[in-house]
Amino acid sequence: MIRAPRSRTLHAGPAGLDPSRLSSYTTGMQYVLRPFTMNDYDAAVALWKTADGIGLSEADSRGNIARYLSVNPGMSHVAEADGVIVGAVLCGTDGRRGFLHHLAVAPAHRRTGMGRALVDKCLESLAAAGMRKCHIFVLADNTAGQRFWSKIGWEERTTLKVMSRDVVR
Ligand SMILES: CC(C)(COP(=O)(O)OP(=O)(O)OC[C@H]1O[C@@H](n2cnc3c(N)ncnc32)[C@H](O)[C@@H]1OP(=O)(O)O)[C@@H](O)C(=O)NCCC(=O)NCCS
Repeated sequence: MIRAPRSRTLHAGPAGLDPSRLSSYTTGMQYVLRPFTMNDYDAAVALWKTADGIGLSEADSRGNIARYLSVNPGMSHVAEADGVIVGAVLCGTDGRRGFLHHLAVAPAHRRTGMGRALVDKCLESLAAAGMRKCHIFVLADNTAGQRFWSKIGWEERTTLKVMSRDVVR
């Protein structure tokens, strides 16, 4: 498990526009970061299915994601460029800690700061909800993903292991 950085960078938008909603690449291309709604579900699943390092399961069914968004309102985010969902992340709390799941950026938009900006948005919403720490689960063979998280300040928890079991047998 990896925990959140103590500091974060917020991306400013172009002059005259709400910087909390607009981000820009160094190339000048713009994208909007906004809360994830169920209208984004199909596009987000399509993005996640094509992203190495993300494993989907029955936990990601339409009904489960609808419930997740309703119990964690406004915390999950998407990045939209020219009306297309090019980044997505789920964010929520268990009431005492924050968790991020399924961060993905479309290949053509990677290395532009979009992944970091999505994470920053989630950390803002977690801080507003009173959370002091956030955890993520990274697949053990997702070395590129681990390099990304380390680069933006997250620390690997070498003393923890994830254990799971089915609730209903
Ligand atoms: C991981 C992922 C979300 C990163 O998105 P991104 O938009 O490319 O990341 P950013 O551009 O915000 O990068 C932030 C920093 O991390 C670095 N970084 C990004 N990907 C990296 C990689 N694979 N290896 C090393 N560093 C990386 C960037 O260079 C940047 O560093 P800088 O600020 O010093 O320039 C994207 O590669 C992706 O969707 N991967 C597939 C899905 C996945 O693995 N998700 C994580 C699941 S736990």
